[in-house]
Amino acid sequence: MALIEFEHVFKHYPGSPSAAVDDLNLHIQAGEFLTLLGPSGSGKTTTLMLLAGFEAPSAGAIRLDGASIESLPPHQRNMGVVFQSYSLFPHMTVAENVAFPLSVRKVAANVIAEKVNAALTKVHLENLTHRKPHQLSGGQQQRVALARALVFEPRLVLMDEPLSALDKKLREEMQLEIRRLHRELGVTMVFVTHDQSEAMTLSDRVAVFNQGRIEQLASPKDLYDAPANPFVANFLGDNNMLDCTLDKALPDGATSGTGCVRTATGQTVQSRICTTRILKKSGAVKLCVRPEFLQVASDSAALATPNCLKATLLDLIHQGDHWRLVARLDGVAQSGSTEAPQWFAKISPGALPAGLVVGQDLCLGFRPEDAWVF
Ligand SMILES: Nc1ncnc2c1ncn2[C@@H]1O[C@H](COP(=O)(O)OP(=O)(O)OP(=O)(O)O)[C@@H](O)[C@H]1O
Ligand SMILES: [Mg+2]
Repeated sequence: MALIEFEHVFKHYPGSPSAAVDDLNLHIQAGEFLTLLGPSGSGKTTTLMLLAGFEAPSAGAIRLDGASIESLPPHQRNMGVVFQSYSLFPHMTVAENVAFPLSVRKVAANVIAEKVNAALTKVHLENLTHRKPHQLSGGQQQRVALARALVFEPRLVLMDEPLSALDKKLREEMQLEIRRLHRELGVTMVFVTHDQSEAMTLSDRVAVFNQGRIEQLASPKDLYDAPANPFVANFLGDNNMLDCTLDKALPDGATSGTGCVRTATGQTVQSRICTTRILKKSGAVKLCVRPEFLQVASDSAALATPNCLKATLLDLIHQGDHWRLVARLDGVAQSGSTEAPQWFAKISPGALPAGLVVGQDLCLGFRPEDAWVF
């Protein structure tokens, strides 16, 4: 049985035309690190608030260990919570802040001292117990918040963008710290972010949110390698898309294999096709290829793949560990745009053909198994 179950949960805020959470079905397993990832306004915080008990669902059921928790107030749910802003008590010391959840639970003073010490040791702050929050760096404050959420040994820790106020280096350090704590403590963690690399670093599974719904729920690797739809493909990692027509679908009965699509200029491309993504036998489709899977050459004969899209080189940018190559595809404007499609490729320094000049004709190649059709 799952630790947490959301069954057909809706949340309508008064006066809002659309649901903030729209028929959410989600099972959270004990011990897992689950991340809610999605654009601003997609319902991540609302989902966390429903779980913590700070908001009530408009419809549906939320269960903990199989028992309904809708009528339980937040403090009886026994969940540790860390918010985006540190929300430490400014007048209390580090130790007093961390002790707070225990003192409100009327834990004995000697036990509190012991537990606060242990929690601060876990987040490497045992030497700063007497400081006030304003005497700490952002990362240290965030670790106090984490210690305070962990000190009463909750089964579930909820975190809403806890690292978004930190600079990149500190954020990455804290990510590793949270990863370590999750492993050491075995506590279930539900984490909200709109940073895809953070989600990939931390999570066992990621739920990709869009407009109050989950588009896909899977491991970071599966989301990246096999996105269920263009939204997920575009949200997680970089992605190139092209409007095409499906030429050759799969034989009857096959669930996946290689099919053919045609571009607007009549170029034919072979692509991996999977029936969970594409059910029709012909018609408009979107071809997707991630930039790291593109090969470039001045001449299609130099490509190690039959797939070749003709393009013009627009820009070539050195990005340290790779070249970013921008090209305009031969073809017509894409749906929702007035411009010819642009793709970009990430090419490792050793794989860049010599003598490329901006404005020249180019072939973009890719293996059928590296392309998706939606
Ligand atoms: N208290 C509220 N009253 C009315 N509408 C709200 C309230 N809180 C959130 N909403 C709306 O519900 C939707 C989901 O909001 P939510 O805060 O859950 O999004 P989010 O995914 O956390 O976004 P962000 O990444 O910006 O934090 C949004 O359209 C938002 O405007
Ligand atoms: Mg939010």
